[in-house]
Amino acid sequence: MKTVIINASPRKTWNTAQLLKEAQRGAEAAGAETEYIDLYDLAFSGCRSCLSCKRKGARRCRCYFKDDLSPVIDRILAADAVIFGTPIYMGEPSAGFRALFERLGFCILSYDEGERSYFDGKINTGFIYTMNAPDGYYETNLRPKLEGTEEFFRSFLKGKVLTMAACGTLQTDDYSRYSMGMFNEAQRKESRKTRFPADLEKAFDMGYALSR
Ligand SMILES: Cc1cc2nc3c(=O)[nH]c(=O)nc-3n(C[C@H](O)[C@H](O)[C@H](O)COP(=O)(O)O)c2cc1C
Repeated sequence: MKTVIINASPRKTWNTAQLLKEAQRGAEAAGAETEYIDLYDLAFSGCRSCLSCKRKGARRCRCYFKDDLSPVIDRILAADAVIFGTPIYMGEPSAGFRALFERLGFCILSYDEGERSYFDGKINTGFIYTMNAPDGYYETNLRPKLEGTEEFFRSFLKGKVLTMAACGTLQTDDYSRYSMGMFNEAQRKESRKTRFPADLEKAFDMGYALSR
């Protein structure tokens, strides 16, 4: 069992990364070999529409663009589980996640008649979202939008899909240094102490459940 963990936050030690490290611990507790990748260490872009992955006779489920992301896509598609963690930026997963999704999604998507997915294996997928927004906003405004991407992974990778959201995250240790008057620092710090540990547990459980 191999589980790949993708940190699609540019910050390597903050909310998303901490949850992903717990998911990694959960995967390892279930006996999986794991690989943790900080996406923002890599040089890559979104899909360049070169159509190499659609060429007649080309090996399927491969991104042929020569940059740091293509080998990561190979490793994800050779794994048994993948867990993506991404902050919500401007109401969407981060640009890094979107670029990876375009590249991975397009090279498994078939433009032939019939079956839509070229991928004939099975990979479990986890999504960990972090955001400033409170739970209610996530449920009513963000969740319905994000479900489309989740559904793609469910139907194209054919595995189990689990999702969790850490809402109302602490964005900085010291709000007083920034113009961020709309946030209540004391409340955020309290929630960090009282709520975030439960989110960490959920992330651990996700890693475990997807890697058994
Ligand atoms: C460029 C940018 C855009 C953001 N947009 C949103 C947003 O639309 N909704 C939201 O709830 N939080 C938004 N946030 C807050 C982050 O999603 C939140 O702080 C997240 O937990 C950061 O993850 P990290 O700690 O792993 O870096 C934004 C932050 C940045 C830097």
